[in-house]
Amino acid sequence: MSKGDAVLTFLRGQREGFLSGEEISRKLKVSRSAVWKEIQVLRNLGYEISAEPHLGYRLLGIPDRLFPDELSAGLNTKFIGKQVVSYEEVGSTNDAAFRLGEEGLKEGVCVFAEHQTKGRGRLGRSWISPKYKNILFSVLLRPDLSPAEVSKVTLMAAVSVVKTLHSVTTHRFSIKWPNDILFNEKKLCGILTEMSSEPDRVNFIVVGIGINVNADPAELLKGATSLKEITGNKLSRVEIAKKLLETLESDYLCLKKGDFALLAKHWEEFSSTSGRRVTVNVHGRKIQGTAVGIDKEGALWIRTDSGLQEKILAGDVHHEK
Ligand code: BTN
Repeated sequence: MSKGDAVLTFLRGQREGFLSGEEISRKLKVSRSAVWKEIQVLRNLGYEISAEPHLGYRLLGIPDRLFPDELSAGLNTKFIGKQVVSYEEVGSTNDAAFRLGEEGLKEGVCVFAEHQTKGRGRLGRSWISPKYKNILFSVLLRPDLSPAEVSKVTLMAAVSVVKTLHSVTTHRFSIKWPNDILFNEKKLCGILTEMSSEPDRVNFIVVGIGINVNADPAELLKGATSLKEITGNKLSRVEIAKKLLETLESDYLCLKKGDFALLAKHWEEFSSTSGRRVTVNVHGRKIQGTAVGIDKEGALWIRTDSGLQEKILAGDVHHEK
């Protein structure tokens, strides 16, 4: 733990009163001026700290920044988010997490970023997000699954995002297959799952999630929305991210136990695709019909206009009006 982290930990433990500079310096075995310097560093990061002569320091406010310290404070998980890497700017959090996977890091490590210069979406699209406004992160997982079963993790992540959003707002969100999170048909969140695998087993999976939290409509692509636009309020990204890490862990444990059926049931409850007229683009081939729902593998079934049932493993779904 760095000196700054240690000072912050002491201040967090004393939210009600002041903590004297002398006590901090004694506990950390550093000079009082070193403590003062760390307080300045924390203030520059956005922490509001009052300093009163004869009383000491008191933490008044924390910045809504995706710092490892903020994300881990009070986080109720066993492994997801126990280790966090946070970037001010990175190419793509998925690429950074993928590298950690190749280096052999344990599952649960998360990579957060305030900004991505090469944010990626599904099907070769890019993911645009203004700095400091949204949640951009990737989590490394090592499930005991075959490559064909990885779509279960993707659907699981969508379920976790919706549960999280339902717990932090009074609004209702839906999932467009496989994992776009929508509000009134506008996109709020995208999920990109990538894997390293052998022919019959997965080495690791990276699940990358981008949620538009505090971005203004003008900062987003057409057809996208943010929680700020929906609720009319700026929300705490740290609180939402923590809740999501906790929900992801409990859903992932459910998947590991072999209970994808329960997650699929939740997915169907949140789905705005099932029962809908859709056009699906599968590698340039257009399939039109009514979406029936997902099967126990997570594939989407379409009843086409010619009466055939088509199984879709990957593709781009368009909801018809
Ligand atoms: C999509 O809807 O097409 C998926 C978008 C996924 C975006 C997230 S943001 C964090 C992570 N890093 C990336 O480069 N992409 C994912």
